[in-house]
Amino acid sequence: MSNSQHIHPLAQELNTILAPCIAGRLLSELGSRLYFPKGIIAQSAEAKKYGKTANATIGMAVNHGQPLILSALQDQLPSLSPGEAVGYAPTAGNPELCQVWLDSIYEKNPSLKGSQITMPILVPGLTAGLFYLADMFLDDDSVLLTGAPAWDNYVLIAETRRNATLKGFSMFKDGKFDISGFGEAVREQAKTGTVRMLLNFPQNPSGYTPTKTEAAEIVKIITETAEDGADVLVWCDDAYFDLDYENDIEPQSLFAYLANAHERVLAVKIDGPTKEDYVWGLRTGFLTFGSKGMNKEQYDALIKKFTGAIRCSVSCTATPSQSLLLKTISDSRTEQEKKAFKELLKERYQVVRKFIDSHKDSTVLEALPFNSGYFMSIKCKGIAAEELRQKLLHEHGIGTVSIDERHLRVAFSSVDTEKIEMVYNTIFSTAEELRKK
Ligand SMILES: Cc1ncc(COP(=O)(O)O)c(C=O)c1O
Repeated sequence: MSNSQHIHPLAQELNTILAPCIAGRLLSELGSRLYFPKGIIAQSAEAKKYGKTANATIGMAVNHGQPLILSALQDQLPSLSPGEAVGYAPTAGNPELCQVWLDSIYEKNPSLKGSQITMPILVPGLTAGLFYLADMFLDDDSVLLTGAPAWDNYVLIAETRRNATLKGFSMFKDGKFDISGFGEAVREQAKTGTVRMLLNFPQNPSGYTPTKTEAAEIVKIITETAEDGADVLVWCDDAYFDLDYENDIEPQSLFAYLANAHERVLAVKIDGPTKEDYVWGLRTGFLTFGSKGMNKEQYDALIKKFTGAIRCSVSCTATPSQSLLLKTISDSRTEQEKKAFKELLKERYQVVRKFIDSHKDSTVLEALPFNSGYFMSIKCKGIAAEELRQKLLHEHGIGTVSIDERHLRVAFSSVDTEKIEMVYNTIFSTAEELRKK
């Protein structure tokens, strides 16, 4: 923890509460300085409860208990009250929405039953959740393990913003998840006494989720590492949760197994409706913590620090997004429509699967294992992925992403089902042409 001279007494109070547990040992310098002020927001929340005569705390223009609202805006949001449309939301999110999300986490992850986890904190999108975690837990000398290749935002968050090191472990070997490579990377890092890792399943860019057996092995490696004396921080980026298209896939988040695994394991679930509920632009996400070793007072202290991080950056997440989401989640049509959307994505996956399975003999392109999510990636052999991307785009009008020199990512989620075969035929024939050049 930091010896910085800028530690506020309130931060010190939280640090003292957290010191005996894993969260206290893992805090970055910035994390150890953070606290939630007993200022405007806290006093305003108190006034909301007890200020029955008048509430002169918050910086909004209020008339007879409702915020003022322009008619043009109210007309566009007819289902929202002025408070639901333009009032400030609490720093850590609309409590009703956070409770609904907590209930859904337990429902989607039955293995969590009996585990004590925190109330999800609402943040403006999963990216913001990752960014706050980086603030709280990464310093210059921290190493964050993640599967390689990874989503390109991870390196931007961990290295560019926080000056930490993002270290990739190889995801696959011989066409399968490389569990021994994962174990070696974790054990190597455990020699420093601390392992920080970011696991993202279904993974971006490969579109892979571990099978039930592989998931159990990952959890075993993490638990054994903790038993051997290292502190293990696991970020579970569940952005694409539930989009699984094969029967042997682990259906629950790894968080379900790690939240109560060992007192030296601190698990964080980063999830949200962005992809799960098809609301990319609403900008809402959640951070939920679980550790066998932490009690309620320590959880509260940790949440206060995160709430401080939100307060000093974006202050709070947009209110209309939260109000609309709450109504959407509880709408009777939502579950059925989500099932239909998932079926559509599964159908696209199956068309891609069929094409890839019938092109296994290609010597220039090889698909990485994929079974879930929005994407799949193709390894380029003897040609550059960027050159392939350029040719596909400029000669055929097909947009893809070259994620590094050797890998091309294809988001089949955003291609109409009837175009998929043509797109893949073009990718494979263009790669052949490039190789012959
Ligand atoms: C692995 C992963 N995590 C997080 C996100 C971002 O989610 P959000 O749009 O809610 O910030 C994405 C989006 O592409 C992603 O692929």
